[in-house]
Formats: sequence, C-alpha cells, structure tokens
Amino acid sequence: MKYKKINSAFILGSTSEIAKAICIELAKQGCKKFVLIARNKSKNNIFAQELIEKFNVEVTTKELDLLQIEKKYDQFVINNCDLYLLATGYLGSYKKNIIDKNEAINIYTANYTGVILMILKIISSLENNSQKKIWVLSSVASDKGRPSNYQYGAAKAALNTFCEGLFYLNMNKKLSIRVIKAGFVGTTKTLKIAPRFLCISPQKFARKLLENTEKKGIEYLPRWWYVIMKFVKILPGAFISKL
Ligand SMILES: NC(=O)c1ccc[n+]([C@@H]2O[C@H](COP(=O)([O-])OP(=O)(O)OC[C@H]3O[C@@H](n4cnc5c(N)ncnc54)[C@H](OP(=O)(O)O)[C@@H]3O)[C@@H](O)[C@H]2O)c1
Repeated sequence: MKYKKINSAFILGSTSEIAKAICIELAKQGCKKFVLIARNKSKNNIFAQELIEKFNVEVTTKELDLLQIEKKYDQFVINNCDLYLLATGYLGSYKKNIIDKNEAINIYTANYTGVILMILKIISSLENNSQKKIWVLSSVASDKGRPSNYQYGAAKAALNTFCEGLFYLNMNKKLSIRVIKAGFVGTTKTLKIAPRFLCISPQKFARKLLENTEKKGIEYLPRWWYVIMKFVKILPGAFISKL
C-alpha cells in the first residue's frame, strides 16, 4: 500500500454517508484532527462525538449551508489541514428536476457553485506552493446526460472541468487536486435507486480512496466504472432516453 499519512482533514458535507466513512477510515489510519462542516448542526455534532469517543481525535465543527456561502464567504475561516475533502452533493427529485427553479438552485449549489466558492476560499487561504490536498467527490453521472439526473450530472460535469483546469494549473506545484468520479455507493438513498450488484459500501469506497493518498487528477472509483461509462456513452439514444 502506497500511503502518506494525513494528520488533519477539513471535510465539507461531513454528514454525508460517504464522508463519514472516509473520516472513520482516516481516523483508523492515524488522522488526529478533523474540521467537520455541515448544514445540519445536530447531525454533525453527533458524528463529531462518535469520532471523539471511538478514536480520541480532536474535532472542530462548523455550520454552513452552501445556499448561504456568498453571504458568509468573507467571514468563513479555513483551518489549516493536510486534506480538504469536498463531499456535498444533491441529486434532487426526478420530477421536480424538470420544472422547479428552487430545486435547480439546490442542485447547482450543492454540486457546483457552492463547492467552487469553497475551493476558491480554500486556495486563497493557502500559503504559496504549500503541500496540501484538495479532493472533490464527483460522479459518473457527469459523463452522460440522462433524463433522470441531467441537472445533477451537468453540475458535476462543470465541477470536473473546473477542477481539471485547477489540476493542470498546479501540475508542477505541491498543491494536489484529485477528482473522484464515484460509481454507485450503497448509501440509504442510492440503494433505493441503484442495482445492488453495482454498489460498493461506503466503507469499501473509503478504503479504496485511501489506498493511495498521493493520487491526483481525475479518476473513477471503483476503477471498473471507466469501462461501464465507456459502454454507456455509446448506447443508442432510444435506450438512454429511458434511463
Ligand atoms: N452515493 C452514491 O452512490 C454517489 C455516487 C456518485 C457520487 N456521489 C457523490 O458523493 C458525495 C457524497 O454522497 P452521499 O451518497 O454520501 O450523499 P448524502 O449522504 O446525501 O450526503 C450529501 C451531503 O451534502 C450535503 N448538502 C446537500 N446540500 C447542501 C447544502 N446546500 N449546503 C450544505 N451541505 C449540503 C448534505 O447535508 P445534509 O446532511 O444536511 O443533507 C450531506 O452532508 C456527493 O458529492 C455525491 O454527489 C455519491
């Protein structure tokens, strides 16, 4: 296993099931300090307490709804950490997706505009050429527009493009940018809509993600989603229109 220890982690969207699994895996691997940012204060505090009790780590919690990030941008303090993980996401409701303006704003904010602003804030807080990691949870849904999730997919695709540019900008610097195009992860919400045989558990996802902490650039996780998406991209329109 290729592994460089991460001692401190700043997690946006720390109430996400995947983010929680990543925090637990980080703590098992020796990470000692966590900054957990979420919009749901009570859920975030419960998870913080769990981390403290199980792993004896230092945890700071912060409340932030990304819909408010523009207003809070200047006052929001970015703590100095080894890893910055951006895990927020919102799939939205299939029916509302098509017509509801507020639902569209929620989707674009949780998956793209809010995340971009947070990345900009993080970068502006870093010292020149500092050795930090920014990891962003994206999705295979960004590879193909489908009727059931095209707003989510579009927001994630824009996120990928932004991060890809940032990755190339920092290619010869110490700041590393990693974008993870996740396949189905078996969370409470996903298990209702995704075939089980295509899902991996959040715990397995977290272990795979942390197998090599030096990775950067865009990747599929698990890697076999690269092959699935190659195939999905060439499916005939008549089939895609039903997905
Ligand atoms: N599960 C999958 O199969 C899958 C597949 C591909 C990609 N992903 C991506 O992986 C990441 C984590 O997914 P997950 O399955 O763990 O999802 P999840 O459990 O639904 O978590 C989503 C997180 O985003 C937060 N969030 C949503 N809107 C927000 C807003 N306006 N302001 C602040 N926080 C907001 C949620 O906060 P609350 O707890 O307050 O709702 C929650 O912490 C997401 O980026 C998702 O797109 C997941």
